[in-house]
Amino acid sequence: MTAQALIAGNWKMNGSSASAKALAGDLAARAKGAAAKLPRIALCPPAALISTVAAAVAGSAVAFGAQDCHAKDKGAHTGDTSAVLLKDLGCTYVIVGHSERRADHGESNESVRAKAEAALAAGLVPIICVGETEAERDAGKAADVVRAQVAGSVPAKSSAASIVIAYEPVWAIGTGRTPTPDDVKAMHAVVRETYAKSHSDSADLAILYGGSVKGSNAATLLAVPGVDGALVGGASLDAADFWTIIENAPKR
Ligand code: PGA
Repeated sequence: MTAQALIAGNWKMNGSSASAKALAGDLAARAKGAAAKLPRIALCPPAALISTVAAAVAGSAVAFGAQDCHAKDKGAHTGDTSAVLLKDLGCTYVIVGHSERRADHGESNESVRAKAEAALAAGLVPIICVGETEAERDAGKAADVVRAQVAGSVPAKSSAASIVIAYEPVWAIGTGRTPTPDDVKAMHAVVRETYAKSHSDSADLAILYGGSVKGSNAATLLAVPGVDGALVGGASLDAADFWTIIENAPKR
C-alpha cells in the first residue's frame, strides 16, 4: 500500500479576502470539472483567510488547512490559534514545523512535536516539515539533520494514516533551485527509514517534496520514487500553475 498522493498549497503570508475567494473558487471549479482521478488537494491560507477559503471550496474535493497551530487547546496565548479551533473551522490539515517557523519563531523539534500532537488530538492531519539548510548540506550533514528532525518532531503515537511528512530542503524554498531527483529519492528514503524505526507502517506514509515546485518541474519531481506529493509555496498562488502540479501527482 502506498499513500494516496497529496498536493498541498502553502500560501504563506499572502492574499486578501478577495484574492483568496477567487483563487480557492477557481481551484474548486477545476476540481469539480476534473475527469481524471484527483490526488488529495489542500489549501493552507493565512489563518485569517481560512473561513473565506472554506466557503469558496464548499462542496468540492478541495480540502484546506492552516500553516501553524499552538500546542495548547486554549488559554492566554495572544496571537496564537489552537488546533481545536482549526478543526472547528473545518480544517483537515495543519502544517507544523515549517522551516520559516523554525527560523523566525525559534521552533525546536520538541515544540513541533507538541504541535503535531495537538493537531492529532484535535483530529487534524499534521503536515510535519523537515529539511536541511544549505550549510548543513555542504557539510555533508543533510541526512543526519533530517534524521534528527524526523525522530524529534514526529509524535510516537501517530500512524501513516494520521500524519504527513514534508521534506523541504531550506535552500530550495523560494529560490527556484531544486535538488536532483537522485537527491530527492535519497532524502525521502532517509525520512521513511527514520519513521520506520518507531512505526511499523512506513510503506503507507505520505512524504511530500517541497521547495520550488512549479508546473514546469512537477512531472520530474513527482515521478521520483518515494515522493507521494508536494508542498507548494509560490506556485500555489497561481491557479493554473498549481493545477498543473495537481495533474502531475502520482496516480494512485
Ligand atoms: P516554495 O515554498 O514552493 O515557494 O519554494 C515551499 C514551502 O515553503 O512550503
